[in-house]
Amino acid sequence: MNNLNPIAIVTGASTGIGEQISIKLSKKNFHIVLISRSKERLEKVKDKIELFGGQCQIIVADLSKSDITSYIKKQIKTPDNIEILVNNAGIGFFDKLEDISIDDWNQQINTNLRGSFLMTQFVSPFMIKNKTGKILFVNSVAGLSPYPFASAYVASKYALRGFASSLREEFREHNIKVISVHPGAVDTPLWDKSKADFLREEMLSSEDVSDMITKAIMAPNNIVCEEIILRRTAGDF
Ligand SMILES: NC(=O)c1ccc[n+]([C@@H]2O[C@H](COP(=O)([O-])OP(=O)(O)OC[C@H]3O[C@@H](n4cnc5c(N)ncnc54)[C@H](OP(=O)(O)O)[C@@H]3O)[C@@H](O)[C@H]2O)c1
Repeated sequence: MNNLNPIAIVTGASTGIGEQISIKLSKKNFHIVLISRSKERLEKVKDKIELFGGQCQIIVADLSKSDITSYIKKQIKTPDNIEILVNNAGIGFFDKLEDISIDDWNQQINTNLRGSFLMTQFVSPFMIKNKTGKILFVNSVAGLSPYPFASAYVASKYALRGFASSLREEFREHNIKVISVHPGAVDTPLWDKSKADFLREEMLSSEDVSDMITKAIMAPNNIVCEEIILRRTAGDF
């Protein structure tokens, strides 16, 4: 690992939007820390990044577990170099209220919300010390508007927006940029088990969404793109 390269941590980096953000940030010379539960899928992303000379490491971790950040901390050799955190890992189960089990509820809240809280709490002391940093939350249009058959997911994303917005105010004095991105439906594995009949090819692509996210992260000087809504030109499904 090159200790001089700034570090970008991307959670949920094994597929979908997180994979694409990781590839794009590695092309901007960040050392990428790729985090998710699947070693096999993370290794495939690592291979893609290394193919064009990018630098990365993988950390296999389940962010829904409350004690996970001490393990992650031990794996990152130069945490002082952390410049970017992308809180992207997330899951959605789309069901009627009566069909949401307590496990489904906990998994969505613990991954989408608590995992982001834990990762942010882990990186922020380094950013505060360095007087610079960028924390991006991959939220959703479901963090801005209610949707039926998605109450647990919507609850996690509304809360995530509140968390990010409060942090933005708290971190202004430390020169840390906090960004929330709210995409509409994106064609990723998140939809593989969904009963919704949206046409996958008419969704946003993870390449396009991650392109906009990378641009927001790279905004120059004292600009912060605080909140971004990314919808299909034709509107939501
Ligand atoms: N697709 C959409 O329509 C859409 C729209 C708006 C917002 N989003 C948001 O975009 C983010 C990325 O989702 P995606 O659409 O790219 O779906 P995806 O392809 O299913 O990606 C989800 C990522 O999160 C990881 N993950 C899930 N649970 C985890 C856990 N407990 N610990 C660590 N990693 C975990 C998954 O990897 P492992 O399985 O290897 O752990 C995977 O890398 C999510 O926050 C989602 O809510 C998606």
